[in-house]
Amino acid sequence: MRKNIVAGNWKMNKNLQEGIAFAQELQVAIADNDKVKCEVIISTPFIHLASVSAAIDTKKINVAAQNCADKASGAYTGEVSAAMVASTGAKYVILGHSERRSYYGETDAILKEKTVLALANELKPIFCIGETKEERESNKHFDVVKTQIENALFELSAADFGKIVLAYEPVWAIGTGLTATSAQAQEMHAFIRKTIADKYGKEVADNTSILYGGSCNPGNAKELFSCPDIDGGLIGGASLKVADFMGVIAGME
Ligand code: PGA
Repeated sequence: MRKNIVAGNWKMNKNLQEGIAFAQELQVAIADNDKVKCEVIISTPFIHLASVSAAIDTKKINVAAQNCADKASGAYTGEVSAAMVASTGAKYVILGHSERRSYYGETDAILKEKTVLALANELKPIFCIGETKEERESNKHFDVVKTQIENALFELSAADFGKIVLAYEPVWAIGTGLTATSAQAQEMHAFIRKTIADKYGKEVADNTSILYGGSCNPGNAKELFSCPDIDGGLIGGASLKVADFMGVIAGME
């Protein structure tokens, strides 16, 4: 059966020392809490990955990158390859976050390359999809999300698709304090699962973890996570303080 996951996305926050201290504090908080019912992931800036992985027990807290290059290696100044990410001990990589798509021009075609390279290096992609406010208001949200999945992921084999975690993150809810209602989120998650089932069959769809992201916090996590097709969250702002992040994790019952 699919896993429940709560993943923190630090984005461009925390210097190295702050990142290590946070990870160690989180590890203590999780060890002291027997109610943690999900896999916990922290997604750090590239330069923190190796040190954070070494500072904690990565069997208890998984570490993720927030991106990787769309090329395997070579003369690509400033880029970080999937192989480099994997060599730090990270097990996951966030791909296709809306900030990458909108600020850095990442297209479905680029994300397809990144996904293939991540999988070839045994990194599990946390693949983000989601519509803008205008797309929802013009009732295009289902088409937009379906196209993002089809274009980037539907040439994968069923075995490779089975390694993907999806994160539905409506762009209008990210960092805005505007959360999708649990009904809106559940409706989209069920649609995503059906889209996967139509392509890869019910078993693959039922085994795919689909996370919700966008202003998820300790106050709304429980309601969101109790929806049948919501298997956890990708958490930005509320993942930056241990108490807040533990509050979100506690929403998974
Ligand atoms: P937020 O970010 O929780 O701050 O809205 C979520 C995300 O961007 O992954």
